[in-house]
Amino acid sequence: MSGNDLASIARAMVAPGKGILAIDESLGTIKKRFDSINVESTVENRRAYRELLITAPGGGEYVSGMILFDETIRQKTGDGVPFVQVLADQGILPGIKVDAGAKDLAGHPGEKVTEGLDGLRERLAEYVQLGAKFAKWRAVITIGEGIPSSGCIEANAHALARYAALCQEAGLVPIVEPETLMDGDNTIERCYEVTEWTLRNLFSELHRQRVVTEHTILKVNMVVPGKKCADQASVEQVADLTVRCLKNSVPAALPGIVFLSGGQSARDATVHLDAMNRRYPDLPWPLSFSYGRALQEPSLKAWAGRPENVEAAQAALLHREKCNSLAALGRYDA
Ligand code: 13P
Repeated sequence: MSGNDLASIARAMVAPGKGILAIDESLGTIKKRFDSINVESTVENRRAYRELLITAPGGGEYVSGMILFDETIRQKTGDGVPFVQVLADQGILPGIKVDAGAKDLAGHPGEKVTEGLDGLRERLAEYVQLGAKFAKWRAVITIGEGIPSSGCIEANAHALARYAALCQEAGLVPIVEPETLMDGDNTIERCYEVTEWTLRNLFSELHRQRVVTEHTILKVNMVVPGKKCADQASVEQVADLTVRCLKNSVPAALPGIVFLSGGQSARDATVHLDAMNRRYPDLPWPLSFSYGRALQEPSLKAWAGRPENVEAAQAALLHREKCNSLAALGRYDA
């Protein structure tokens, strides 16, 4: 056991007006992001890009933590300062993605299970040494013809719970992230149903594996229609159904809930978060953000791989962080 006070770390992660910046793209995902700006995904380009995100001046005002990738937590600025140190100096908690990715689930065509439990205890011990305060594991649930199956939902809940228990043993706050994807043509009602089913299973499995609720953060999708659904939803509908789903399935003792952006536009992700906090100011948990794309996209485009654009890219990041900080308080004016 390390001396980390998990309850205080969890509360700090969702402190009023603060959220999390996810910069933990795996090698495959960051390559896709770099392809979109015609930048080659080399170790040095990835380091330079993450350096600009990590060193953006003033980020600590809006961001409580950043989720790093294994490569990133070991990297340094161009001046030789470890990234973890740069974060600590700004009062930002370093987090680490520890899953090994979503792989095809045998016997379940079209469905995935997240791997990475083998050797996890030892890897967590190393991340604690490197300065990590929290961790993340993402499970993926796909909506489609006849799916998800209970086999997929249960396998993912079990892995999330085993991961979370190991994190707490190691002295890290686990972010448990079951993501119901928004890529299909399903209705918002179907997303509600699958998200609630997934969350109910997850919390009963967390309990079975003796995971401490007060030392855990949930990261989840909003309840939205699939991108290819003809019937898109209003902001109020997304806010109402998401909050209803959470009230029905998440224990009140959880210190906080953060959302992923999941392919929503930067603006939609902000407006939806704001609407939830505006319409429901008295929920048992703070609702905040842990966006990857919705925080980074404008910054990535502004950077385009050129050192002379670093300042503009940092300004674009800060702008999104500030908007989402206001949304976490229900005070964003579109
Ligand atoms: P997006 O906000 O881009 O969905 O990413 C968040 C994340 O960390 C997914 O695991």
